[in-house]
Amino acid sequence: MNNIKYKLFSEEPVDMGGDCYIMAIESSCDETACAIVKNGREVIANVVASQIKTHAQFGGVIPEIAAREHLDSVNVVIEETFRQARENANLAPEDITAFCATAGPGLVGCLLVGLNAAKALALTYDKPFIGVNHLNAHLCANYLDTDLKPPFMALLVSGGHTQIIDVKSYSEQTILGETIDDAVGEAYDKVARLIGLPYPGGPKLDKLAQEGNPYAFKLPEGKVDGYNFSFSGLKTAVLRLVKSFDEVPVNDVCASFQETVSSTLFRKLKKAVEEKGYKQVVLAGGVAANSQIRKKVFSLEDEGYKVYAPAMKYCTDNAAMVASCAYFDTNTFDDVNVEVFSRVH
Ligand code: KG4
Ligand code: ZN
Repeated sequence: MNNIKYKLFSEEPVDMGGDCYIMAIESSCDETACAIVKNGREVIANVVASQIKTHAQFGGVIPEIAAREHLDSVNVVIEETFRQARENANLAPEDITAFCATAGPGLVGCLLVGLNAAKALALTYDKPFIGVNHLNAHLCANYLDTDLKPPFMALLVSGGHTQIIDVKSYSEQTILGETIDDAVGEAYDKVARLIGLPYPGGPKLDKLAQEGNPYAFKLPEGKVDGYNFSFSGLKTAVLRLVKSFDEVPVNDVCASFQETVSSTLFRKLKKAVEEKGYKQVVLAGGVAANSQIRKKVFSLEDEGYKVYAPAMKYCTDNAAMVASCAYFDTNTFDDVNVEVFSRVH
């Protein structure tokens, strides 16, 4: 097993004397995904199999069912990725420089499927294996098809996390603040569910909000110091509001909720950017697909900042971001013995 640490860089990727093709598998939640990325930025192949239809009937992800679906899909997704690589770049499996997979955080039974499939590929083709942190991968989605380089200030908003991160270099990150209760995506999904929208409610709530009046109802912002966030009080306030109507003005409720969430995120992100004096701002994670949050963060361009957000298909879970992370981020596990983990400690 060739498990040589090939990433010797700390600040900038080193020239490895040729192109680097990394194949990644992502299976931390309800998407089975595989991708091949050249030199950390150029997507050669990208395949995502979503389980949304399966979980919609239960109103959320059932971990055991998700793990079994990953098992059914993983080989199909890998084969399709190799097919695309052959078609798009005349690339064969032997040309892959290293194989990687998300090691965590995520659902353990789901992570095991992708991690073991990628380890098997690394062993078969005698190439290095790299385990990747899913959150770092979301940030690295911003390196795809761009020339972004650290330092920058990042807002990471997903189904499981809400963080403001000071990204000093490819390897050095400091979390300035995070949610003390619900993540933004979680709050979106819970509010969507209480107004009767099917899973996953975030994108549907976003659509309805665009039809409503964002100032129809004044909802409370979570009162937390510094760069931390709290969204559970807001969720309870929406529940109380919804219960006060015989016929709920759904669009206005959605718009008011969305306005409150996006204003809170924007205010704290802007404060962090100003305090650290960075000129680059990055949005990442599944909720980076949200229309209002995107609009607010991109408004910083009018003030002279350069703003990055991944293309929509790289906001929610995908494997291209995982491959990019294996290339750029030195906080990975270059070891075939790495185990899956459910949470970051
Ligand atoms: O990053 P992601 O795919 O999975 C995690 O790592 O958590 O994020 C999924 C989350 C879900 O909560 C989903 O409802 C939310 O992202 N989401 C959105 C939108 N698109 C996806 N939330 C609000 N507005 C959207 N347009
Ligand atoms: Zn994710």
